[in-house]
Amino acid sequence: MHCKPNIAIDGPAGAGKSTVAKLVAKNLGYLYIDTGAMYRAVTLKALRDGVDLNDHEKLGRLASAVLIRLKVGSNGNLTVLLDGEDVTEEIRLPAVSNSVSLVAKVPVVRRKMLELQKDMARLGGVVMEGRDIGKAVLPDAQVKIYLTAATGERARRRWKELSDKGIRVDQRQIEEEICNRDFIDTSREMDPLAPAADAVIIDSTSYTIEGVVDLIVARVTGERQKL
Ligand code: DC
Repeated sequence: MHCKPNIAIDGPAGAGKSTVAKLVAKNLGYLYIDTGAMYRAVTLKALRDGVDLNDHEKLGRLASAVLIRLKVGSNGNLTVLLDGEDVTEEIRLPAVSNSVSLVAKVPVVRRKMLELQKDMARLGGVVMEGRDIGKAVLPDAQVKIYLTAATGERARRRWKELSDKGIRVDQRQIEEEICNRDFIDTSREMDPLAPAADAVIIDSTSYTIEGVVDLIVARVTGERQKL
């Protein structure tokens, strides 16, 4: 029996999952785990090595060979290490964002990540964020959230996130890329993006971040009182 429950947060790109998951984890004293960062790290390695992203066998070998570590700092931020190298910034670059869905749809890559992610949560007390957490990684999670938002709003948020980092991009192009990724993520064969049957669906389009965080924390606290 876990001492602390696990929390699963799934949803499409740009719905605010990372920001919300990080704050929920901080608020509850749980560990924040960003599973998308793991798929991004594998993608970065594949791009660097010039691997054909349609070559599933090579991608599978690569996913088994790389060492991915997520290190949580005292401020709650994650450092992503790829074979010991800090790639936290590089995995957010558009080249990775635009290829990651192709890598994440490969079953042998997913199986490897699934194994690592299940292991990370085995002691409980994690807020894990991704696309298949409630259904595949943590089907027993105490609280499951499916966070979504209107496509235009998600594109605006992603655009702002990149602009704040000094990366200049066209918002319409971002919206197109988000739609493209949503399509690949929801239509892939293995563990496509979809809310778990027992997930609470939150549309964050007209909520503040704090509002969403409060909703989730209240849910977790309510579940704990039932134990
Ligand atoms: O959340 P993100 O944008 O960093 O995710 C990057 C990609 O990885 C996205 O295309 C979906 C995929 N992903 C996934 O398939 N399963 C997860 N648990 C997390 C991310």
